[in-house]
Order: sequence, then structure tokens, then C-alpha cells
Amino acid sequence: MISFYKKFIGYICLGFLLASFTNDGNDPTEAKINELLSKMTLEEKIGQMNQLTGTGLSDDMKGLVAAGKVGSILNELDAKTTNELQRIAIENSRLGIPLVFARDVVHGFKTIFPIPLGQAASWNPQVAENGARVAAMEASSVGIRWTFAPMIDVSRDPRWGRIAESCGEDPYLTSVMGVAMIKGFQGEDLTDPSSLAACAKHFAGYGASEAGKDYNTTWIPEPQLREVFLPPFEAAVKANAATFMCSFNDINGVPSSGNPYLNKTILRDEWKYDGMLVSDWGSIEQMIPHGFCADLKEAAEKAANAAVDMDMMGYAYMVHLEELVKSGAVSEKTVDEAVKNILRLKFRLGLFDNPYTEEKEILPFYTPEALQMAKEAAIESTILLKNDKNILPLNDNIKSVAVIGPLSDAPADQIGTWCFDGEPEHSVTPLNAIQAEYGNKIKIIAEKGLAYSRDKDQQGISRAVAAAQQADVILFFAGEEAVLSGEARSRADISLPGAQSQLLSELKKSGKPVVMVVMAGRPLTIQKETEEADAVLYSFHAGTMAGPALADVIFGKAVPSGKLPVTMPRMVGQVPIYYAHKNTGRPASNIDLIDDIPVGAEQTSIGFTSYHLDAGDSPLFPFGYGLSYTNFEYTDLKLSSNEIDKNQNITIRCTVKNTGNREAAEVVQLYVRNVVASLVRPVKELKDFNKVTLKPGEAREISFTLTPEQLSFWDLNNKRVLETGLFHCWIGTNSAEGLQGSFTVR
Ligand code: NOJ
Repeated sequence: MISFYKKFIGYICLGFLLASFTNDGNDPTEAKINELLSKMTLEEKIGQMNQLTGTGLSDDMKGLVAAGKVGSILNELDAKTTNELQRIAIENSRLGIPLVFARDVVHGFKTIFPIPLGQAASWNPQVAENGARVAAMEASSVGIRWTFAPMIDVSRDPRWGRIAESCGEDPYLTSVMGVAMIKGFQGEDLTDPSSLAACAKHFAGYGASEAGKDYNTTWIPEPQLREVFLPPFEAAVKANAATFMCSFNDINGVPSSGNPYLNKTILRDEWKYDGMLVSDWGSIEQMIPHGFCADLKEAAEKAANAAVDMDMMGYAYMVHLEELVKSGAVSEKTVDEAVKNILRLKFRLGLFDNPYTEEKEILPFYTPEALQMAKEAAIESTILLKNDKNILPLNDNIKSVAVIGPLSDAPADQIGTWCFDGEPEHSVTPLNAIQAEYGNKIKIIAEKGLAYSRDKDQQGISRAVAAAQQADVILFFAGEEAVLSGEARSRADISLPGAQSQLLSELKKSGKPVVMVVMAGRPLTIQKETEEADAVLYSFHAGTMAGPALADVIFGKAVPSGKLPVTMPRMVGQVPIYYAHKNTGRPASNIDLIDDIPVGAEQTSIGFTSYHLDAGDSPLFPFGYGLSYTNFEYTDLKLSSNEIDKNQNITIRCTVKNTGNREAAEVVQLYVRNVVASLVRPVKELKDFNKVTLKPGEAREISFTLTPEQLSFWDLNNKRVLETGLFHCWIGTNSAEGLQGSFTVR
């Protein structure tokens, strides 16, 4: 694995970073902020609080910048333009305060890495850090210094299109991956011209949107908010994420952009965050259709008083804040706090000393190193879900393959959602890669069958079946087009779109083995297709280098090691389905499925337990699941003690052995259950994991230490408590299997 930083340099720099982030009275940066603030008129202060979308060098924009009415511009993408606008801000505005240019650089700028959900499937924070670092180096070269990422909304609903941008269903995994992305974007030093300010978004609870419908309302009881949705954000504060973004949703009736409890009580007072909070696009103004504000003026008032520092494309502050301050509805102190947060961001980025971007002839896009890292990320993100008769990796007896399916050669779709700047012409598709690598060794028959994922063309299916008949193995690349996931791309039916399922059934009739590779923005309901296919690889849209990565996995140059960052349902009616559920008073047992029920069965003849008659109680694949080309054996679970005091740590260890004949990586996972508590606890919670690479025959002891903090939970008084009693723990290969132990906290 390629690493950008030598670890110890990282720690030294972290020390400096932490020191520079200490916001006390003696901090020289704070003194500069206060001095500048003291020179600013109210109009200039409010000017800093506006973020507008770029309009190039339009007279309008130039005029606003010169007048000091804009603090930040988003979506301006060329160093000449950003430099000229910056020059106007520095030279022509009264106080010469620099602009900060922003963009959604989510999983790559030009070199596209797997979508964040795919990166999370690697369970390797270095993958996420590398992806963010490459993105930062590329995006900063055109003048961008602030990205709206990482998106760390815990997402438990695969209907929600934005699950693609998330790290999946688990607060701990999301925290680890989110922190790694922040490190990658912000680099060793935020003042470095190749660093981007990160933005932890969307604060908060957006992943709980009802019915998985984007922008929808959320109802989140406080213990759940703190337990599930807030931990990644608290981790982001601790990792010095330079900015936060509000979410679009309302929580329990209060939109985030007007929510003082979230933005002041929790973010500022509890977490002591001194970074900057930006609204989402128009989210201040959108408090009107929410039914929370009567008009734009009230929206500006509520947002300012809820400590939203910057208005992204809402014009609410620009139009109304001055009169609100003059009338006393918003205090000037509130405005000052917001402006300080904005100026602090600009100082932290070093923009006062170094506002311009070097205009390079050759931009640092698609470097061999970046492409290699993108390929490794795509390999590590690929999850092997099924491998009957070890058909994968393909062996030397295979003389011909049929490359079929709408995603086999779909350069724009494989880069996924949220890559405005990715260029499909740089994508290497599975077909490209297989032809380039194996074209002179085996026969490759290419026939997409369906031109795109929603296609239903029957003639295409016939052509694909004819092609398949000439091959030893069928490689069926199925999935979703990029446009079917991401913002405002929710689906109520999350099966394979179009006639893909039918195409698979027809291919299967050929009697040839079928390897199905799913390339999608979310977990899809593929129960029937999984039964039909001989092997299944799941690759969330894996980016520019998806093709070479998948070719390596299919032909065995690489061993899959991805694990599901989200539970895969059998059918959409099971949603929400996640591993960390509660047990209920009647946990599932005696499961009679709908077809098992005799006709005329009495109402009382079936067990009264918690499951769906037509789906049972299990997912198609559990969270944390993923196979390998080798086998791992778990033995010798040992606990440092069977009883600990409330203030003691406990160490849990076991031996993991590679019993196969391929060197491979395994994600060893630690889960815990607090069996009885004053608030019902989940049946399992991921507490730690370790991705280890083992040689054939190699055994290694894997050890995890749990602190009292990790064993505690949020009670109804919003306090973390550790209660005495029995705990179960598991070390295993996924959330449904593992060696189980128990201990008592006394
Ligand atoms: C709306 C999205 O919700 C947010 O994630 C994004 O950063 C902004 N638009 C800016 O594009």
C-alpha cells in the first residue's frame, strides 16, 4: 500500500496543527482576527458571510468582490479566473480580505477514486486518506482551497441516493473513514497550497430522511441522534475539520439551518468547535417552504441566531442581515462571531499570506502515482459475495470470456455520482482493461446486451446470449448508471434497473458459468440474481481505474478484501435493515415463510416473533461481510479478564490464520453487546477493526483494547454512562459470525 506520509512526521505535524488550533487569547491568529474585525464595517462583515456561485469574471461578480460583499465563491474552476477574482478582493476591496474558493471534490477531482461508500468497503482508512490527498492536490491546482467533503451522514436506507456519498450504516466505521478523509484533504499543514479545508457534512441527521426520500423530514430521538448520527461529527471536530455544513432536513421539526440546539449547544458549547459553519445550498431560504419561516428576512434571522456563519447561495444574509442587526433582531456580536469563524478559516488556510494559485502549464492530473492509488483503492473496495466452486479467480483453462452487461464499458457510469470534474474519457472500463491485459492470451467476446442500466432492448439480449454461447465464462457487468444515485436520486425500487435481471436469466440458460459484477451507487436487492450467478463481486462505482482493478480481481492478480459497509437487504421492504438493531421482546425464531404456511392455517399456528413473512429476518448479506480467495480461521479468543471495574480497560484477542494458499487481507472485526441496560442496547455494535495481510499458513494474534468510554452509552439525560453488568463480545469476519466471549463490568 502506498502511503503519503511517514507516520512520525504526521504526528509532529498534528502537534503543530493542534497547537495552531488552540483558540485562546494569546493566539497570534486570534489577535489578527480581532484586529481585522475591529476595522470592518457592518456591511463588510456581512459581506464575508455570503457565498456565491461563480459567474466567471462577470461585471456583477467583480463589482461584488471589489465592494467586499462576497466571502467565498464556489464552483470557479480555473486558476486564471480565481486569481483575477482574488486580485480584485486583495487590491480593490477596502480591507483586502482574500476570497476562499470552494467546490464539491468528493471522491476525486480528475482522478476519481471509488465513491465514498466503496472506499468505506475497503475498511482501510489509508485508502480514504490517499483518495482525499490526491483530490486535494488536483483541485488546489486550479485555485480551490475548500472542499465540501467528507459526507459523514450515517446512512441506513439504501433507497436514499446519497448513501453513495456516505461511509455506510455504522457510526464507528464512518468516523474512522471520515477522519482519514479529513487528514487527506487537509494534509500535514492547512497553509500548504495543496491542502483543502475539509467540510464535515451534513450536520445532522440527513441520513435518517424518511422513506429514503431526499431532503425529507427526520424524527430522531436524542439518544439515537447522539448514538448514531453525531459520533462521526464529533470525531471530525477532534480531527480539526476546518468547516461544517448544515443539512437540508428538519430534525424533530427544526431545520438544521435554524437549529440553535445543534449548531450552538452541541457544536459550539459542548464540542468547542471554532471552525466555520456554512449552510447548504439555499438551505436558509428553504426554511420558508419547510414552513419554519414566513419569508427570507425571518430565515436570515433564524439562521444567524442559530450560528450559521455563511449563507451558501441563499442571499438571505446579503439582503436582510444589515436591517436585522440594525433592528436588534440579530446582535452585532452574533455577526462578529460568524465573521471571526470565517476569517479564522482564511488565516488557517494561509490565504492572507499566500492568496494566489500558481498558474501551471501542466496540471497535476492523472499522475501515474494517483492512478495507481485509485486502482489500489478500487481493488480494496471490491467485495466478493459469492464464489461457487471457486470459479474466481479465473484459471488458465479459460480460453475465452464473454464481456457482457451495461456497466462493462460505461466510462461515465463507473465514476459514479458527485464527480463534476471527472472526465469519462480517462476512465478505464472493465472491457478496456480485459482487452488490454488479456486480449492476446484469450478470446474476448464483447457484447453489452443492454446499452445502459435501464435499457430493456430485447434484441440486445438476444445478441448477448449468442455471444455468451461462444465463451467459456460469462462476465456480466450489471449495476446502475451514475445518475441513479447521489443527491435527489432516491429510488423506491432498488433492484437492478431495466432488463438486466432478465438478461442474466437468459445468459444463465447458456449453461456457461456466470460471474456477475455489480457496479452501483448503493446496495441493490439482488437475491434472485445472486442465486443465479456462480460468483458475485460487488463494486460500488469504483472510479477512473475500476476496469484494471476488477480485471486484476477477476483474473487473480489481486485478492478481494472488501467488506460490506452496509447491510444488503433481500428486498426493499426490509429497509431500514442494519446490523446494530435492537433485539425486541420477541426476537425472530421459528421463522415460517409465506409459502410454508398451510392454506387455512389458524391465526395462532405461526410463531409470534419479529420478522417478515416474505423475507424472514436475515439480510441477503450482513454488514461486514466479504469473502476472499483464501480462508481465514479464527481461534483462541482470550479476554484479559472476565470481570473489570468501571474504570478499567479490557483486552480481547484471538488468533487469525490464513489457511489457504494466497496471501490476502482480512478485516478482523470486534463487536460488543451490552446485554442489560437502562436503555435497550443494540444486539451488536462495531467497536474496532483491523485489516491485516497474512501469508499462506501465517497466523497472527489480533488484539483490541476497549476503554470504559467505548463500553458506555448515551442515557436519557444526554450523559454517557457505563452501567455494570454482562457484556458479550465477538471477534469475527463479519457482523453475523465470530468467536464469542463474555465479561462483566462491576
Ligand atoms: C447541495 C449538497 O447537499 C451539498 O452536499 C453540496 O456540498 C452543495 N449542494 C454544494 O454543491
